[in-house]
Amino acid sequence: MSRVLFASSEAHPLIKTGGLADVAGSLPRALHALEQDVRLILPAYAECKTRAGKLKPVASLEVNGQRVSLLESRLPGTRVKTWLVDCPLFFDRPGNPYLDPDGEVWPDNAQRFALFCQVISRVSLDQAGLYWQADIVHCNDWQTGLVPALLTLAAQRPATVFTIHNLAYQGLFSYETFKSLGLPPHFWHHEALEFHHQLSFIKGGLVFADRINTVSPTYAREIQTPEFGNGLDGLLRHRKQALSGILNGIDTDEWNPGSDSHLPQKYNRRSLGKKVINKLALEKTFNLPEDAERLLIGFIGRLVEQKGVDIIIQALPELVKLPLKFVLLGSGQREYESALNKLARQHREKIGIRIGYSEQLAHQIEAGVDTFLMPSRFEPCGLNQLYSLRYGTPPIVRGVGGLADSVVDANEETLEDGSATGVVFHADSAEALLDAVQRTLSLYNDKKSWKKLQLAGMRQDFSWRQSAQRYLELYQSARKANPCPIGL
Ligand code: ADP
Ligand code: GLC
Repeated sequence: MSRVLFASSEAHPLIKTGGLADVAGSLPRALHALEQDVRLILPAYAECKTRAGKLKPVASLEVNGQRVSLLESRLPGTRVKTWLVDCPLFFDRPGNPYLDPDGEVWPDNAQRFALFCQVISRVSLDQAGLYWQADIVHCNDWQTGLVPALLTLAAQRPATVFTIHNLAYQGLFSYETFKSLGLPPHFWHHEALEFHHQLSFIKGGLVFADRINTVSPTYAREIQTPEFGNGLDGLLRHRKQALSGILNGIDTDEWNPGSDSHLPQKYNRRSLGKKVINKLALEKTFNLPEDAERLLIGFIGRLVEQKGVDIIIQALPELVKLPLKFVLLGSGQREYESALNKLARQHREKIGIRIGYSEQLAHQIEAGVDTFLMPSRFEPCGLNQLYSLRYGTPPIVRGVGGLADSVVDANEETLEDGSATGVVFHADSAEALLDAVQRTLSLYNDKKSWKKLQLAGMRQDFSWRQSAQRYLELYQSARKANPCPIGL
């Protein structure tokens, strides 16, 4: 048994902007089920405090001149003990964890997440008055990146694991900011936190953690190349002995078409025929003509370059010439939002766009569409394709990162042996996407092949069971690699 402090800047259902929240909301629960003493720590954003239920103040400490309280609760729906780092000046605000209500980054993000990192480090060392000492600190993404660096300052410390969910977000700030944070001067070095004359939070994890991992084996290989390395591929190659990939799991209770309360019609493998009721209801929601037959394609996600939204926009005028319809739910870059809205106005019968965020509509799309589109430029893991597979909605994906690791392309051989689960394409272009959609249409028109594809996806096991076990092995190897363990 290990005592694991799981640190994240978001966790579903308390606060969510993307897949990190899904992972931080479900992996700790899976670790708890494997009898680990796991505690989740995250900032006490206003939204978290409302959603957490009963909160008990359990400690109070001073960090960088700020008074901070630790509020204890359980992650809703689980037994996982959760500590919220309450510092109202930094976290009690409207907007999301990283952006203000106008979509601009909060100007004091460095101060906010540096404070979060200081608190995580103090809690893990039992220096916060909680009478609990971590064996492992599991950090996630740049917002927690300073923790492995800070812990090297302690004579004895827990082992550290740093998980990269997205290397494109690095937490880069100026030298002046570095100085203002009161970090030890020796951290300003290219073998420490400095990255091309900037402070890099993520380097704290990449340089100092005992073990680094990312959320799929393919992305773990890709980030060691200049194409996907975001300037950090050299460092990652240097640390390749410490680097691995573990595919994310999904919360199979929350994402289960057989019990999903968001759906107009629940269904499972044996009652797959009822899925069409969700399709008709979804078409109605999007004000599209109700039509059980025509292929309905869906997309949900952040409208940013990573997700290949520009490729979708480029391909849509051609796509609508085919016998199909398209629905999208997402928000992000303003130019993408307006281009999509414009296309929907031009093709009211074929394209439905909903700009915004809706948990319920996301579930209804997974169940209601026939196929789910993910033309990502890069995708560390991707969760929507895993949800799609479980919902009998074969995905069309670009063969990168976790998409390559979780979807088997339908070709003669894989259709024959029953391993096919979706359609995979490779080139980063609208033509390749159109080609993949054409292939999907032919498969869809052959009802027998299509059903085989749906059932093969639904049979896959993407629960956390196996991946959580892999994390336990990773924790063991981090503990072995830690040069100054506590208690020896
Ligand atoms: P990323 O973390 O890069 O955004 P993932 O595929 O790992 O991508 O996870 C995204 C998660 O966020 C999924 O659970 C997805 O359904 C959800 N999501 C993204 N955008 C929206 C939205 N507009 N409304 C509801 N859920 C969304
Ligand atoms: C990131 C990645 C996504 C991954 C998620 C959870 O946001 O972009 O691919 O699924 O983290 O690990």
